[in-house]
Amino acid sequence: MANNLLAGKVGIISGALDERSIAWKVAQKAYAEGARFVLTNAPLAMRMGEINKLSEECEAPIVPADATSMDDLEKLFSGTQEHFGGKIDFVLHSIGMSTNIRKGKHYGELNYEWFQKTLDVSALSLHRMLAVAEKQDAFNEWGSVVALSYIAAQRAFLDYTDMSQAKAVLESIARSYGQRLGKLKKVRVNTVSQSPTKTSAGTGISGFNAFYEYAERMSPLGNAPAEACADYCISLFSDLTRFVTMQNLMHDGGFSTTGISEEMVEAITQVSGGSEA
Ligand SMILES: NC(=O)c1ccc[n+]([C@@H]2O[C@H](COP(=O)([O-])OP(=O)(O)OC[C@H]3O[C@@H](n4cnc5c(N)ncnc54)[C@H](O)[C@@H]3O)[C@@H](O)[C@H]2O)c1
Repeated sequence: MANNLLAGKVGIISGALDERSIAWKVAQKAYAEGARFVLTNAPLAMRMGEINKLSEECEAPIVPADATSMDDLEKLFSGTQEHFGGKIDFVLHSIGMSTNIRKGKHYGELNYEWFQKTLDVSALSLHRMLAVAEKQDAFNEWGSVVALSYIAAQRAFLDYTDMSQAKAVLESIARSYGQRLGKLKKVRVNTVSQSPTKTSAGTGISGFNAFYEYAERMSPLGNAPAEACADYCISLFSDLTRFVTMQNLMHDGGFSTTGISEEMVEAITQVSGGSEA
């Protein structure tokens, strides 16, 4: 049910690749809540053509931008302001990519050039976006930036390899730039740490099904679906959360603060033949 929470707001939504993408759901919900926005993704991702469907559905122009290119990002932010004839109220950073994960490298054999690329694409790109926005004075006061993260920033999940470090850097950039933009423009910057979600990026991780099932059994509310993540992002773009900034916000059905669950006790008891000390 839409409540016009984003009426009059203008934004940039990155990372909608296909219908499973978290950014895809954010775009649909932002549109339903009255926002107008530009969709952006890496030029390579555009070739799949899926994003055109979303663009039509949400009446949103597409501006291709590689999130590691300052030129592309400058055009993205200036183009968005030109198109809408004014400044920007919200940005969704929904970008992640690791060649080490794609190539199935385990944590002990990471390729360092790819590691640097992972950090550049998945974390420094947030800094780049915000630096460009600052330079162009692109934000309206009380704007809001959300970047998507994962709990591997705080806890070891070895199959997530170099993306763990990328998420730790991403969350740190959100805090530092949140402080800067808060002072400069009253703009807030937060990360949302989302449950494992069956998207192109998610299912590309080796062992994904196991940690999806593990998180599902550990979380009292179950894994948060992409649609619910999108709802949370909308609330963070809305005026209802104007003083929430520099936070890593857990959107995980309670996973991060659960020690053990009944479902896990049952599963382990079954495996160990029900033996109790
Ligand atoms: N799926 C999960 O389990 C999960 C859990 C927590 C957080 N996240 C995070 O959510 C975000 C969105 O991922 P998703 O799960 O919706 O998967 P997705 O594959 O749909 O989205 C990832 C996006 O990053 C884009 N991208 C990659 N390289 C880029 C570049 N150089 N420039 C611009 N865009 C680029 C891709 O084209 C794609 O659209 C990512 O930051 C991801 O790490 C995902």
